Amino acid sequence: MSSISPISLIVSITFFFSLLLCSSSAQTVVKASYWFPESEFPVTDINSTLFTHLFCAFADLNSQTNQVTISSTNQPKFSTFTQTVQRKNPSVKTLLSIGGGIANKTAFASMASNPTSRKSFIDSSIRLARSNGFHGLDLDWEYQSSATEMRNFGTLLSDWRSAVVAEANSTGMPRLLLAAAVFYSNNYYSVLYPVLAVAASLDWINLMAYDFYGPGWSRVTGPPAALYDPSNAGNYNKRTKPNKLAHSYYAATTGAAISPDGSIGYGQIRKFIVDNGATTVYNSTVVGDYCYAGTTWIGYDDNQSIVTKVRYAKQRGLLGYFSWHVGADDNSGLSRAGSSSYHRHKRGILRRWDDRFKMSFKVTTLRTNYKSRRNT
Ligand SMILES: *[C@@H]1O[C@H](CO)[C@@H](O)[C@H](O)[C@H]1NC(C)=O
Ligand SMILES: *[C@@H]1O[C@H](CO)[C@@H](O)[C@H](O)[C@H]1NC(C)=O
Ligand SMILES: *[C@@H]1O[C@H](CO)[C@@H](O)[C@H](O)[C@H]1NC(C)=O
Ligand SMILES: *[C@@H]1O[C@H](CO)[C@@H](O)[C@H](O)[C@H]1NC(C)=O
Ligand SMILES: *[C@@H]1O[C@H](CO)[C@@H](O)[C@H](O)[C@H]1NC(C)=O
Repeated sequence: MSSISPISLIVSITFFFSLLLCSSSAQTVVKASYWFPESEFPVTDINSTLFTHLFCAFADLNSQTNQVTISSTNQPKFSTFTQTVQRKNPSVKTLLSIGGGIANKTAFASMASNPTSRKSFIDSSIRLARSNGFHGLDLDWEYQSSATEMRNFGTLLSDWRSAVVAEANSTGMPRLLLAAAVFYSNNYYSVLYPVLAVAASLDWINLMAYDFYGPGWSRVTGPPAALYDPSNAGNYNKRTKPNKLAHSYYAATTGAAISPDGSIGYGQIRKFIVDNGATTVYNSTVVGDYCYAGTTWIGYDDNQSIVTKVRYAKQRGLLGYFSWHVGADDNSGLSRAGSSSYHRHKRGILRRWDDRFKMSFKVTTLRTNYKSRRNT
């Protein structure tokens, strides 16, 4: 770390889970994670026995044709994903995830705005899922930013559900699962999610209750994926927008272990702790870990945070949890900690969907943001 010693580093890892389910789902538990090829984590190395569902990310939306596509680079890995992960766990289910944080959100908004383009999206997504052996589809549109976009999102989901039901009916195959990754609150900066359409159409949603602090958007350090916010009665729904925060600022650093978005994996953090004799602290008030050595400060989730969050999810009657992302774990340690602390729960304990939707919680720690900070 000597090359960066003049400035402090901040790493936030958010390997979270969250999940919500819809009462229509026959699913009793979801223990899931995302995998993506850029992580360079071999699919064969995923210990799929620790999961019920795995998301393969990402397929793309073609903004000209409104069809879902898999890039030629990703095609070989995506088309064998299901059979590969099912070798260790024949009952694991896979979902093809569409979009992602860097996808063109204007294209999603445009596609969802009229029936013809919605149909192109839906029909191509179903074809792609079937031809590549996936059991379901996941939409990661970040984010719908107006009331109109939210309404169209709801219509898209309803159309999608009808289409997968009809397809299953006509092919005799099990219906494709439908999921979506959504903001951690049903209120996206004053724009409300179409919760009824979401509940009626999807098997579950993945709440992205992380990235609360990160070097790319925060000006102070803080827990990246806290379960509780003592300043706001237990949730982050009213968190100040990053540009309202002050006191210190970040400057990006680079290094072999740091990805372009400024994140590093949990395995790298373990190595940092060992190599630098870093002090590790579990903060039970927020439920999050951090470590520091010299001028470096890293926020992340370790076993204890994950176990606490997974138990929270179970106690609140949530369907399960997910993490972003499986390739950032360290010998499956966090995935094992999460999996062993969430056992099947009884059905019939579901609360009102939108109550659950408002809960922000996350569990794992896999996304990290590794940046430097200088005090002002
Ligand atoms: C996968 O995890 C299970 C459960 O912890 C463990 O028993 C098994 O040995 C692991 N498999 C591999 C290949 O690491
Ligand atoms: C994003 O999508 C919009 C709407 O379809 C399109 O006009 C625009 O060219 C796309 N941007 C990029 C960078 O592809
Ligand atoms: C299922 O298929 C049958 C026969 O093909 C048809 O009569 C029925 O309307 C279909 N149901 C749905 C929900 O598509
Ligand atoms: C834990 O987090 C709370 C809330 O941010 C903070 O007030 C407290 O100082 C933290 N404790 C430790 C040991 O970092
Ligand atoms: C976390 O738990 C896993 C198994 O549950 C274990 O292998 C690993 O050593 C633990 N990590 C730490 C840092 O305690």
